[in-house]
Amino acid sequence: MLNDMLNLGVLISGRGTNLQAILDACAAGTCAAQVAVVLSNVADAYGLERARRAGVPAVCVPARKGERREEYDARLLEVLQAHEVDLVCLAGYMRILGKRLLAAYPQRILNIHPSLLPAFPGLEAQRAALEHGAKVSGCTVHFVDEGVDTGPIILQAAVPVYDEDDAETLAARILEREHEIYPRAIQLVAENRLRRQGRRVLGGQPGPVSPSMAVKEG
Ligand code: GRF
Repeated sequence: MLNDMLNLGVLISGRGTNLQAILDACAAGTCAAQVAVVLSNVADAYGLERARRAGVPAVCVPARKGERREEYDARLLEVLQAHEVDLVCLAGYMRILGKRLLAAYPQRILNIHPSLLPAFPGLEAQRAALEHGAKVSGCTVHFVDEGVDTGPIILQAAVPVYDEDDAETLAARILEREHEIYPRAIQLVAENRLRRQGRRVLGGQPGPVSPSMAVKEG
């Protein structure tokens, strides 16, 4: 492991296309980070295969029968710490994180969600946006807090919702943008550019330089 790189722990439960986007961005150098470990709660999640192909440790941690969330999270935490993870990235991870994990990584857990939060949190967000009649939807990268998709927003990208859309076509349009903004958000963390002001996360979206300022500076 290179010392100056941010070590990522990516948590998945499924196909892992966002994981792939992160792996690709790290390999291309557009993300100054490396995936140190990929963890899944689902044994046959295809994302585990993506990790192996990229030469990244792929660990499955299935929940035990009757296991409490805190106990499960303690096992996850052990794996994350063993791989010296600095930043945890949830990428289609279908479990809610417990207090202990949140406390171990304060402001160091990100999630990607397929809607423009705070609209349509939770499951099937693309279908919910469509059925609600939204004309614009998109995706959000946010810090994770105790709630479901409620944490401070880092980046968002919008896409149109067309009359012809069904949940699948809309999801596919959103997914393309997810693959752009997730690595970009990780890069913002890697560069230490983000700062908090209440719920607002600043530093990811600087405004245009106004012409009057440009004149003054020139
Ligand atoms: C994505 O739509 C993401 O926004 C949501 O779960 C899905 C995961 O897809 N949290 P993938 O496994 O990254 O392909």
